[in-house]
Formats: sequence, C-alpha cells, structure tokens
Amino acid sequence: MSPPTNRKYPPIAGYELGSVIAGGGFSCVFRATNAELRSSAACKVVLITPQTTPQQRKELEKEIKVHSILKHANVLEFMAASVVEENGKTRWVPGYYMLMELAAGGDLFDKIAPEVGIDHDMAQHYFNQLISGLSFIHGQGICHRDLKPENLLLSGAGVLKVADFGLCAVWRHKGQERKLAERCGSLPYVAPELSLPDPYRAEPVDVWGAGVVLFTLLFGSTPWDEPTTHSPEFASYVTGEILRQDPWNRINGDALDLLLGILTIDPTKRLNITQIRAHPWCNRSSQVPQLGPTALAQRLTRGLQMNGDMALAEPEMPAEDVDMDEEDDGFAMGGAKSQFTQSLMLFSQTQSGMKYTPNLTRFYASISPSQLLTLIAQFLISIGQQVSEDVHEDKRTSGVSIMVRGKDTRGLVMAGWVEVEEFSREGTRGSRCVFRRDKGNPLSWRLLWKTVVNSPTVEPFVLKRR
Ligand SMILES: Nc1ncnc2c1ncn2[C@@H]1O[C@H](COP(=O)(O)OP(=O)(O)O)[C@@H](O)[C@H]1O
Ligand SMILES: [Mg+2]
Repeated sequence: MSPPTNRKYPPIAGYELGSVIAGGGFSCVFRATNAELRSSAACKVVLITPQTTPQQRKELEKEIKVHSILKHANVLEFMAASVVEENGKTRWVPGYYMLMELAAGGDLFDKIAPEVGIDHDMAQHYFNQLISGLSFIHGQGICHRDLKPENLLLSGAGVLKVADFGLCAVWRHKGQERKLAERCGSLPYVAPELSLPDPYRAEPVDVWGAGVVLFTLLFGSTPWDEPTTHSPEFASYVTGEILRQDPWNRINGDALDLLLGILTIDPTKRLNITQIRAHPWCNRSSQVPQLGPTALAQRLTRGLQMNGDMALAEPEMPAEDVDMDEEDDGFAMGGAKSQFTQSLMLFSQTQSGMKYTPNLTRFYASISPSQLLTLIAQFLISIGQQVSEDVHEDKRTSGVSIMVRGKDTRGLVMAGWVEVEEFSREGTRGSRCVFRRDKGNPLSWRLLWKTVVNSPTVEPFVLKRR
C-alpha cells in the first residue's frame, strides 16, 4: 500500500510511519518510531476511500473503542488512534490509524513448523497465555470472535499477544448477557453452532477458536476445513472415528481430554474458561516459564531448526555472531532488539544496513534480484498461484517485489508479497528474498515459501548454512 500521490502518512502521537510489517490489502501495518521518546510501535492503517461504507466505518470505530480499553499482559496494547478524513485539502492520506505496541517477535505461528507443531510444554506455555488473555477479554464483556494463528503475535520478549479486534463484539452490557447473531470468522476456526441459524452465546465461540489454536500448536495444522459434515475430517470427528487416525491417535490422556472438552460440539457442554484453567493439562509442571529468552526462542523454533528452515532464513550468520550492540536505525528498535528477537534471527545485515524482518520466511540466493524474482514468479504461476504482472521497485532499498495470491490446502485465501533485494556479504553477492504475508495462515504461507525454495528452478541457487 503506497500513499496516493503528494500525500503523506501523518505522524500518530509523535510516531512516524516507516517500513511495512504486514498486510497491504484491506489494512496495512507499519513500523512506527518516535524519535523524541526513542521508542518504536506499530501502526495499522485502513484507508478511507470513496468505496468505504458507513458499515465499515462503524466496525473500525468499534475496533478502536474496544481495543483501546483492553489492557492486559497477553493482549496487544493499543496506544492511540487517529482518523484523517478526506476534505480535499488535507496533505495526509485519509484513513483510520491505530497505533499499537510493536509485537517485535512477529507472528507466533511463523516460528512453528507446518505439520509438526511444538512440544507439549511449549504448547501449554502459549495456550495458557492465550487463555489468560481471553479470560481477561471476556471479563470485560467482550468476545474476540476471530481467534486464529494470524491474530496471535509475540512481543519482543516472546510473550503471546492477542491482536486484531476487528470482529469483536460486546456480549455483556450493564451486567446483562446478550446473544450474538452475526456469522463471522474464518471457517476452520469457527464454532459449529455458527452454521445454525439461531443466535449464539459469545464465550463458547472463542473457547472453540482457542481449541482449534491448541490443536494447531500441537500439530502444525488445523483439524478441519470447516465444522460441518462437508469436511471429511469433521465428519469423522463427529463419529469419533478420527481418534484412531493420525495425529489424533498420538495425543496422550490429559491433552486429548482437554481437546475433546474444548472441541465439544454442543456449546452448553463445552468447557468454559474456568474449567480450562483448572484442567490438569494446563497445570502440568514445566520448565518453560523459567527459560531465558534465548532458550525460549530456540525451543520455539526447534521444528524449524530440524526441518532446515532456520538455516535457510539466515545462512551466513548464526545467532551467536550477531553483534548485540549494533543498532538498526539509531534508537529505532527500542525494546524490539531483545535477546529473544536476536535469537530468532529477526535482524540481519543487508545492503541498506541492519534490517529487522519479523518473518522467518526468507532466504538468500546466488543470483541477481531480477533473475531470482523471474524464476520465483514463473514457478508460482506453474503451481497455480496468481502473481501480479507489474514488478514494484523500491528506490530506497533498490529492491523489487511482486504480489502473490492463492488458496491454501484448507481453501483459505493467502496473499502477500515476494520482496527481493541485493545482498553482499563476505564476498558473496546475490539476493535476499522475503515472503511478506498479507492474508492467510502463517503456516500455509510458510509452506508456500518452502515449496518455492525447494522448486527445481530456484533450489540450485539457494544459499544454505555451511
Ligand atoms: N502491533 C503489531 N506488531 C507487529 N505486527 C503486527 C502488529 N499488528 C499486526 N501485525 C501484523 O499484521 C497482520 C495484520 O494485522 P491485523 O490487526 O490482524 O489486521 P487485519 O484486520 O487486516 O487482519 C498480523 O497478522 C500481524 O502479522
Ligand atoms: Mg488479523
């Protein structure tokens, strides 16, 4: 999303917008920095255009209003909001601007190996943080309604932050519970009662979403396409047959009991948050809460180390070699440059300086950016992905990028950008390629990235850790 001609993004609460972190479609999230405070943040921008409807405005205003009152260790902190209207004269880009704490660790699920997941202690650690955030949100009379991997982020210290209140709803007002009627959320995470026509209770819907997230943490994939009998997996879940199949047949007693308790089809019999918090699986003793930031990052990315993804993301620079004192752009990373984010290798040396990239879906190649981008585009088209025809050039980094759009194995839209810039280090010249996600599940995005890296035309040029 580049600003329309002659217009600039406004500073929000003294924070200037910088590089794009994610998005680019309906919304775009920028890194933002405040020179005076020497701190960094993130700013979500939704443009106001002649096509913006009153309904969309109402929803954005609700997102701002609700998110700004939710203050909790496991909820992304909302800092300030600003709305710039089109009045013909403004020099700013019209839009809704939401300034938030920077989730410097990026997407939680970007760090998890698809089809593998994370170990039970790590899953318990992050699931308990999710439930703690959710319990707080529900206590404020709010429900999230869009719990899914792409809305669970990590702070610079590796703490889970629930983000994106775009679909939230007030379920308790002045002490009175009200049922909800809107059908929303994406199918793999949505609770089965939403396929019925009746109004539904709010809290059990979020509990179901958290259950799907728990399964995804444990196995690196969602359990079904949708909670209806159109999905063969869900149909076999309903009959219980699925429990004899992989990966369900690998789940042990307590974990299975918890999953089945949460993913109970009848919302009146589904576990509630209090029961979840008291469940033995959530209370198993574990060393994870005592791990230091480096060990936590290592443990989280164990699957990516085993499958070789980490070695592709940072081929030349193992974590120990990163100079802790080196600053990115002066002060700008504030708390972002932590031992946790350093161990995740989110900082790397590029042609244009030390660069912070929250996604690990990147690799290096021995050919020029334009050659690499051409090979990637040809391959993506050959596997049925849509690729934008025009190549976007970024003058600041002399990088080139294209847009990709397609569907994942669950039938969900996934989209993003493939950005390539020149790279030269220790006598090696070539390209640095980042897959930056806009829409879709980070696990599916990672699978697409890996398919490209392993493709017969790209793979011969990929630089791997020696
Ligand atoms: N505060 C933040 N810090 C870092 N990344 C963020 C932040 N907020 C959002 N993102 C990234 O941007 C993506 C989209 O943000 P989100 O609020 O979920 O918008 P949308 O309503 O478009 O889904 C997230 O999935 C995440 O990758
Ligand atoms: Mg989102």
